[in-house]
Amino acid sequence: MIDPKAFLEFIKERRSIRAFLNKPIPEEEVEMILEAGRWAPSASNRQPWNFVCIKNKDVLKELARVTGYGYFIADASFAVAIVGKPTISGNWYVVDTSLVSMNMMLMAWSLGIGTCWIGSMDKEKAKQILGLAKNDYLLTVLPFGYIQGNVPEPTYRHPLKNIIREI
Ligand SMILES: Cc1cc2nc3c(=O)[nH]c(=O)nc-3n(C[C@H](O)[C@H](O)[C@H](O)COP(=O)(O)O)c2cc1C
Repeated sequence: MIDPKAFLEFIKERRSIRAFLNKPIPEEEVEMILEAGRWAPSASNRQPWNFVCIKNKDVLKELARVTGYGYFIADASFAVAIVGKPTISGNWYVVDTSLVSMNMMLMAWSLGIGTCWIGSMDKEKAKQILGLAKNDYLLTVLPFGYIQGNVPEPTYRHPLKNIIREI
């Protein structure tokens, strides 16, 4: 088991990273990130997802062109498209794949690998680039790479007292 206080600090220290070193990531670490995704919880354990692991630089550049504030995916060592399957779990595929994403982001952080959820993306164009089926749901494409430069300053969070109501 992980030390709880260290784990909370770890969660607080994670930052979205948007600049990556041009340095390959060992296959074992790639697999650990994918594995962390695979172990996410899902409603009725339906696991309504699959992942596209993108290592081809040309594809990363193509994806960068269909993002807004996600251009940095072009510099990623690899990226993972997290694909939800509405046909497997119609009510929960968005929630379940979001949990996958968080698991992958935290796993990456523990390895000193940066990532950032890219929401600013033309998903229909990205689906075409990735060869996804019409009814596949593209949650996001997470770019991964070793962190270039300094880790950004902590981002603001509302104080607990503002968001908690005790009954
Ligand atoms: C659903 C979602 C969509 C996001 N979309 C983008 C995006 O398109 N581009 C980007 O640079 N960051 C994006 N982010 C990252 C957020 O800006 C970031 O998580 C937030 O500012 C808090 O910073 P932190 O992750 O460093 O704590 C997104 C995050 C989430 C959860």
